[in-house]
Amino acid sequence: MTSWAGIAEAKARGLYERERERFAATRPKSRALAEAAKRHLHNGVPMSWMTDWASPYPIFAREASGAHIRDVDGNDYVDFCLGDTGSMFGHSPAPVVRALRDYADRGITYMLPTEDAVVVGEQLAHRFGLPFWQIATTATDANRFVLRLARGVTGRPRILVFNGCYHGTVDDTYLRLIDGKQQPRPGLIGQAQDLTAIAKVVEFNDLQGLEGALSKGDIAAVICEPVMTNIGMVQPAPDFHTHLRALTRQYGTLLVIDETHCISTGPGGYTHAHRLEPDFLTLGKPIAGGIPCAVYGFTAEVAERIRKVTPKVDHGHTGIGTTLSANALSLRLIRVNLEEVMTPAASAHMERLSGELADGLAGIIRERRLPWHVTRVGARAEFVFTAKPPRNGSEAEAGLIAPLERTIHLYLINRGVMIAPFHNMTLCCPATTPADVARLHDAFAACLDELTAK
Ligand SMILES: Cc1ncc(COP(=O)(O)O)c(C=O)c1O
Repeated sequence: MTSWAGIAEAKARGLYERERERFAATRPKSRALAEAAKRHLHNGVPMSWMTDWASPYPIFAREASGAHIRDVDGNDYVDFCLGDTGSMFGHSPAPVVRALRDYADRGITYMLPTEDAVVVGEQLAHRFGLPFWQIATTATDANRFVLRLARGVTGRPRILVFNGCYHGTVDDTYLRLIDGKQQPRPGLIGQAQDLTAIAKVVEFNDLQGLEGALSKGDIAAVICEPVMTNIGMVQPAPDFHTHLRALTRQYGTLLVIDETHCISTGPGGYTHAHRLEPDFLTLGKPIAGGIPCAVYGFTAEVAERIRKVTPKVDHGHTGIGTTLSANALSLRLIRVNLEEVMTPAASAHMERLSGELADGLAGIIRERRLPWHVTRVGARAEFVFTAKPPRNGSEAEAGLIAPLERTIHLYLINRGVMIAPFHNMTLCCPATTPADVARLHDAFAACLDELTAK
């Protein structure tokens, strides 16, 4: 009998089939919409990731507020996915909704700066400790732009990523270590460039591998999340960030910290909480309350170097920017979000509750003697199907068991609980309550009881 991290495979598969039926019985309207959508939406969804959920067909949402989503069939869910971080500070936070209503009839996009831009620049500098900022529309864009800038100012061709990373759909970062060899990430469509010519990949927490790569002198930038979150979670070894910073400085490589997910640490992200000193910082997803928006900041030294390499041309075509970036409405929303939503009090609540959520999950796992563990960065917590925390992307990937994830996720969905469809990630937002967390704990315990029953 095959065992998946202490769970009999046949048991998990059987439970999944039963839960599929239960799902379908209570979601006829979603099923009808899913069928209708197939007529003109490729694969029946407007964006491919929406088929990544564990459900047999997508749940069609009717509305969401705070920490809850309601679907078209009237089912209520506690949402611990929160738009995979886009709504990390809750669905439709009241100040953002007010600002949307008040501002929308004043013109949305005019390619001119507004007073809000000045305030946003000040806010970001104060919060993250970097003096200069630019606005982009997605975290993907922010990362693309900083990598271009890093290559521009260093004159070096390559960037370095950690194995198992995700920084958006940025071609350069789609390199993986497979059987010790650098290869394009499996699943990539239409990759025309030789990624090994423009990037290098090493394992997270591997200082020797990192130094070996940096010492060649051709790496413009290391881009990383301070805690890896996209291959399950991988925590940095205690001195990893100190050494990463020292080595990048030693070899003239710029350091990009992508805070898009690790902003879950607190108001100034992991960077502020752990006194990191990046050359660039990027942050997208929740920065404007769920409206597409991202920001990137850099040091005064980098700003000066950018000035020196910026060509003197009479147009804006440097490869940086998109038409709708930094539109007036989004600047207003970032401002309001920073001032009134992403507050220290909100983060404190999220962190406290996520701690309780993680402790509860760990207790449920312990009681059932499963060789799993729970890991957390601030408001982001995750259960993992390995006894020991992984030290790098390869170890984390080896611990992923997709069909077991799907069974648990669908079981939770059927009991009014959503966690992220990618691995086992949960987020608490300012509106999440202890009762919401209790709903997750109860459903998770019931699921594990069924999975471990003799
Ligand atoms: C760490 C990190 N950076 C960047 C991105 C890209 O964000 P977006 O898809 O909003 O461009 C993601 C998306 O999951 C992410 O996890």
